[in-house]
Amino acid sequence: MSAELSKNNNAALPVLDFNGKSDIPTDAPNAIEVSHIVKKYGDFTAVDDVSFQVKEGEIFGLLGPNGAGKSTLIRMMTTLIPITAGSAHIAGHNVSKEPDEARRAIGVIPQALTSDLDLTIEENLNIYAKLYDVPAKRRKEAIDELLETVDLTKWRHAQTKTLSGGMRRRLEIARGLVHSPKIFFLDEPTTGLDPVSRVAVWEMLTSIKSKRKLTVLITTHYMDEADRLCNRIAIVDHGKLAALDTPEALKASVPGSTVIEVQFDNPPADWEQRLRGLSEVTSVQHQAAGMYRVLTANGSRTTTALVEIAVDAGVPVRTLTVQNTTLDDVFVHYTGRQLRDELVKAHQFEMPQRPGMRP
Ligand SMILES: Nc1ncnc2c1ncn2[C@@H]1O[C@H](COP(=O)(O)OP(=O)(O)OP(=O)(O)O)[C@@H](O)[C@H]1O
Ligand SMILES: [Mg+2]
Repeated sequence: MSAELSKNNNAALPVLDFNGKSDIPTDAPNAIEVSHIVKKYGDFTAVDDVSFQVKEGEIFGLLGPNGAGKSTLIRMMTTLIPITAGSAHIAGHNVSKEPDEARRAIGVIPQALTSDLDLTIEENLNIYAKLYDVPAKRRKEAIDELLETVDLTKWRHAQTKTLSGGMRRRLEIARGLVHSPKIFFLDEPTTGLDPVSRVAVWEMLTSIKSKRKLTVLITTHYMDEADRLCNRIAIVDHGKLAALDTPEALKASVPGSTVIEVQFDNPPADWEQRLRGLSEVTSVQHQAAGMYRVLTANGSRTTTALVEIAVDAGVPVRTLTVQNTTLDDVFVHYTGRQLRDELVKAHQFEMPQRPGMRP
């Protein structure tokens, strides 16, 4: 599983020019306001004094390992579970005092897939449209438009159980938007999807965002996704906010601007310490046998010094790559751990089998 996870995390996604990440005016009103929110289950505190605001039109990412409290936060914001302390306002409505008003403003895609497997795509969408009182006249138009947007028009009569994981996620996205909500909550919409389906889901989301005035709050543990698509990111760890800012500012806040990933053959025991002592190095993580991630304020000078000590010590360099710091480094900086390691420890969400029927 760890190989699969690291493959998913590192997969080179096709480069796409997402336009969902538009600039948000500084005076835009808040769509979401969370203030000192707490959730306790008995003695266990799942969410611990978290506060943040999300502006209208923003794509806001909650990034954190399994069990960090992301789903619990979403469930409180979307009125699904009571808040232990603090408050959440959604579209100006206090979710504890005006849950119905808050609910009308939101669309929610929960972490587990919840569309009815025995119904067709269109039937699933119709049920939700009726549930949300979308007028009959508007219903067909809304469903046609959404099917087109999520690229499922030609599958509208297909039974949901015949769809691939990516298609089911796209159906759920359409379903969550059928009543034209202003604020869209998505809990890990791409977990378990292959890289191409992940990109397809994000394309859908960004295309929807460009057509509708929508605020998006999304949880993920894919750093690349959060980096590319979110206006701002909150790193959640053990129920607390570890950091919150734009991806650019988060990366800039980590000491060192460049990462050298380097693998040596049989380095000596004190090798990590020697790497730390190199010119301009700000931190060193030992990732696997012989594999180090070296953060530095000066990529070229440290690379030269690193190769020199390796040659002097007779330690062969097997691979070496130099890149800008990533959100992985931000996560390590603020939590002291690697997100990937945390994910390997926990079970991974698995997409259901696809029986293989096609319309
Ligand atoms: N109903 C519950 N009763 C007791 N503990 C709970 C309950 N729901 C969640 N928890 C605990 O609260 C913590 C936060 O869980 P949550 O589901 O919010 O995490 P998450 O960040 O969404 O994780 P994941 O990435 O696995 O979805 C976990 O330790 C979880 O075990
Ligand atoms: Mg969750």
